[in-house]
Amino acid sequence: MSRMIQLENLHKGYQVDGHIVPALQGIDLSIEKGEIFGVIGHSGAGKSTLIRCINLLERPTSGRVVVDGTDLMNLDDRQLQEQRRQIGMIFQHFNLLSSATVAENVAFPLKLAKRPKAEIEQKVTELLTLVGLEAHRNKYPAQLSGGQKQRVGIARALASDPKVLLCDEATSALDPQTTNSILALLRDINRKLGLTIVLITHEMHVIRAVCDRVAVIDGGKIVEMGNVVDVFLKPQHPTTQEFVEQVADSVELKEIVSHEKADKDRTMIRITFLGSQTYQPVLFQTMLETGTPFNILQGTISRMKDTPYGQLIVELEADQEQVNKTIGSLRQRGLEVEVI
Ligand SMILES: Nc1ncnc2c1ncn2[C@@H]1O[C@H](COP(=O)(O)OP(=O)(O)OP(=O)(O)O)[C@@H](O)[C@H]1O
Ligand SMILES: [Mg+2]
Repeated sequence: MSRMIQLENLHKGYQVDGHIVPALQGIDLSIEKGEIFGVIGHSGAGKSTLIRCINLLERPTSGRVVVDGTDLMNLDDRQLQEQRRQIGMIFQHFNLLSSATVAENVAFPLKLAKRPKAEIEQKVTELLTLVGLEAHRNKYPAQLSGGQKQRVGIARALASDPKVLLCDEATSALDPQTTNSILALLRDINRKLGLTIVLITHEMHVIRAVCDRVAVIDGGKIVEMGNVVDVFLKPQHPTTQEFVEQVADSVELKEIVSHEKADKDRTMIRITFLGSQTYQPVLFQTMLETGTPFNILQGTISRMKDTPYGQLIVELEADQEQVNKTIGSLRQRGLEVEVI
């Protein structure tokens, strides 16, 4: 893979009442061509500022922004305008023209670029088909659902054949089911067009559903970054752990732990299965082999983008030596085991 976006030591401060309030404090990030990269953080962490720096809607106070080999900070207005056409963007509140139809909204960037009429017509039809809105082309935004509005936003963002799509909380105003359909559309576009997608969100399930890699931003700094699978299964930073808990059955788990902890001859472990392991009877085989009695307290199977994974909370009824042997054997089979 080669690099699509490179942010180097990015700083951004906002002038508020004569003071500079720092919003980004030394962001280093590189995003590969064709990947879906997520940035997650709490409100005020600097997510929007960060994503708006990628097309210089927000000009960083210092640092470098390189998109597909072009250093955007060095461009004059006309060149920057040209580069921005390569970078589509969608927004939480869609930002559609309310007095224009669906088709006119999608045509807008093409009209601005003074494309010939026939070409615009063809492109708009193509895009509306891609996002599943052909039947709604003459409606106005007010006549559409939230999900449909976002589909218009996506079609419009794709009109100038961008290399990059920036998504600023693109699903935050949508219900869960609609969110899933928009995320599926983004994945579809990523695959079909090879488009690089950067999305920011405060919801871990969005990251889990579509992203290849994720960065966690806190107080204007990236506190953790990596493959979604790794960050998800082994979150290091407290902020990451909080986000991961959003999608775990952690409340139930805490309850189980406090219930069971009193008993000294029992050890609780969490076993994580990844990929094809998820569907194999590894646990059962190990327990047979070591002769350790066990109880399954909780189990989940889920999916990160294309990777299935499962977690089991298991209670071992055995002495320490036997427990160690069992854990060793599970780890030897390539499973992630953690004593709770
Ligand atoms: N135009 C502005 N002027 C002054 N301060 C700003 C401006 N825009 C953002 N900030 C401040 O910069 C920090 C980061 O804001 P930003 O909008 O990037 O956060 P965010 O992570 O997108 O939050 P949210 O999840 O609420 O959208 C915040 O402290 C915010 O108050
Ligand atoms: Mg924001």
